[in-house]
Amino acid sequence: MSDTVLLETKDGIALITLNRPDKLNALSYELIDRLMAVLDQIEVDASAGVVVLTGAGERAFSAGADIHEFSGSVSRGPNTAARDFVRRGQAMTARLEAFRKPVIAAVNGLAFGGGCEITEAVHLAIASDRASFAKPEINLGMPPTFGGTQRLPRLAGRKRALEMLLTGDPFSAARALEIGLVNKVVPHDELLPATRELAGRIMRHSPLAAASIITAVTRGLNMAIGEGLQVESEQFAAMAPTSDLVEGLAAWRERRPPNYTGR
Ligand code: COA
Repeated sequence: MSDTVLLETKDGIALITLNRPDKLNALSYELIDRLMAVLDQIEVDASAGVVVLTGAGERAFSAGADIHEFSGSVSRGPNTAARDFVRRGQAMTARLEAFRKPVIAAVNGLAFGGGCEITEAVHLAIASDRASFAKPEINLGMPPTFGGTQRLPRLAGRKRALEMLLTGDPFSAARALEIGLVNKVVPHDELLPATRELAGRIMRHSPLAAASIITAVTRGLNMAIGEGLQVESEQFAAMAPTSDLVEGLAAWRERRPPNYTGR
């Protein structure tokens, strides 16, 4: 595997590290393609229950799309830019958002542009107190392209999102918590332990139930409630014949901890 993305799976956690620290983990096309390949690998790995995504080095989670690289695509015209840059980045954030194992961002530093869009797309996020966030695309004379105009308004509300999108100003981890972009802010040294602790609290449960919940929430958020309830009902129907549901109900009746098999 190319070292722009590292993967280490241990104790049920697939730890993905964006690994271009000298470029503040900017999202080159190669890095995005490797991240997609790593997600394919984790998807079929039964030993991986939760995904944690973080950045290498002391400074950055990710400073966003690789500006040098996508400038080249832009100079080759709108069709090339849409294909090589926009659709590639949108596919990455959509894949993370819809991934059927919980994905937690451990935001260890700068999360600008695409780094912020990854944080918006994943299911849960914990930020170091040293993290900072920004929607700086407007500083480059462009709108965000990896879902940043769509997910942040849904998460934080239209006016809060528009302030960030229209000013491009950085904001703190505390502000990210306030607007619902992250779940928790912890002292820098506690970032990975706190993320592992959260992952552990999820992994006590049936992975099938977790996957159903992610799908129902992710798809439902973009639908009218009637259609969303239909998705919820389908997700339950898919769980009804599973051993995990039989086990969860039996464990409750027998007042013992459940022993899930993911089947
Ligand atoms: N794309 C490509 N390279 C990037 C990058 C990006 N988004 N962000 C940082 N880098 C590279 C820099 O080119 C530099 O590499 P070099 O040493 O080979 O020149 C290295 O990472 C360190 O960045 P630098 O700009 O020197 O650090 P800084 O502390 O002065 O500034 C930032 C930090 C985040 C303010 C600045 O790097 C920045 O504005 N990055 C772009 C953020 C952005 O607009 N992202 C959205 C893109 S759509």
